Amino acid sequence: MKRFSEKLDQIKKNGLYRKMRHLQTPQGPHIKIDGKDYLLLSSNSYLGLCNDARLKQAALDAIEKYGVASGGSRLTTGSYEIHQKLEEEIAAFKGTEAALLFNTGYMANVGTISSLADKSWVIFSDRLNHASIIDGCRLSKAEIVVYDHCDTADLARKVRGYHNRQALIVTDGLFSVDGDIAPLPALVEIAQKNNILLMVDDAHATGVLGLSGGGTADYFGLSDEIDIQMGTLSKALASEGGFIAGKRSLIDYLANTARSFIFSTALSPAMIAVSLKALEIVRTEPQRRETLRANTAWFRAELRATSFDVPENEAPIISIILGHPDLAVSFSDKLMERNIFVSAIRPPTVPPGTSRLRISMMATHSRDDLKQALNCIAEIGHKLGVIR
Ligand SMILES: Cc1ncc(COP(=O)(O)O)c(C=O)c1O
Repeated sequence: MKRFSEKLDQIKKNGLYRKMRHLQTPQGPHIKIDGKDYLLLSSNSYLGLCNDARLKQAALDAIEKYGVASGGSRLTTGSYEIHQKLEEEIAAFKGTEAALLFNTGYMANVGTISSLADKSWVIFSDRLNHASIIDGCRLSKAEIVVYDHCDTADLARKVRGYHNRQALIVTDGLFSVDGDIAPLPALVEIAQKNNILLMVDDAHATGVLGLSGGGTADYFGLSDEIDIQMGTLSKALASEGGFIAGKRSLIDYLANTARSFIFSTALSPAMIAVSLKALEIVRTEPQRRETLRANTAWFRAELRATSFDVPENEAPIISIILGHPDLAVSFSDKLMERNIFVSAIRPPTVPPGTSRLRISMMATHSRDDLKQALNCIAEIGHKLGVIR
């Protein structure tokens, strides 16, 4: 045990120690932590659905009908008709032939990549891809070629060095921490020209980007061109679980080979019912996405007007890069003192030297909420010398 406490001391010395805070209220723009009220700007619940009465009722109805747990893996005794219904709804939502549920987005990435590729393959992976993609690549034992973040010229150069190999290009659609959008049109072109499979992780774009909230493929009008669309139900859809959407043959293959699908108890019927209801809300209430977009545009513009270096785009994730982890933690702590919760993100989640505040917008933030947050961020930014 001594070796672990020594390692832990080193983590603390480097300013990288993390601790959990305990929420006492449902997740929304206003939350309570340890008895204190906060304005929350760090939730992935972009559409503000975590405490939606219709989702809660859907869970209760499913518990009444099916009980509280699925009791087995999908291939044994855990597959209910609503699991299949949700897969059909996801496929329709994503514009694909079929879909397969996994218990988390993490398990979807790890299970899918490691079942598709083996050591004879090469995987081209964006430098800033999510940890679950990186772990899936490692587990596959394929050769991993990392290309510079969103740099399609670098990718094209690297692809040229690997003729006649089974290959996969994998990228976040909407990058989870930087909040930028992958250049899908150019990625599709490179993939098709070189006969390479393309996989897009839309954990953060599902329900958020695109005319119907279908994600980055929908945003670019490329739903038919992406071989493997991965997504989560755990963020904008306020539920739990991950999925892969694509051709029927891909989905059948994964159901028979992806170990994180085969060897794990199915999601509870209650969470499946929540996902079904949330998908219906995404389909029928586009105004939520529009409000989220308006909140994002306003907040980004105001931050820029206050001299923060943030790009102009539609993503509800806004990174203020600060550099040293101590500065990011100090900024976040000072915001906490002012009853505003914004997480400090440090290595290993982001590369060394790029510790930051990660702000995330919700459709349910009011303009007054955002003004209050902006004033505090500007004031603390001045005090800490981040802006002049
Ligand atoms: C880009 C990305 N992919 C996958 C995941 C994993 O999804 P889940 O939280 O549903 O396991 C996340 C979650 O943080 C993510 O940000």
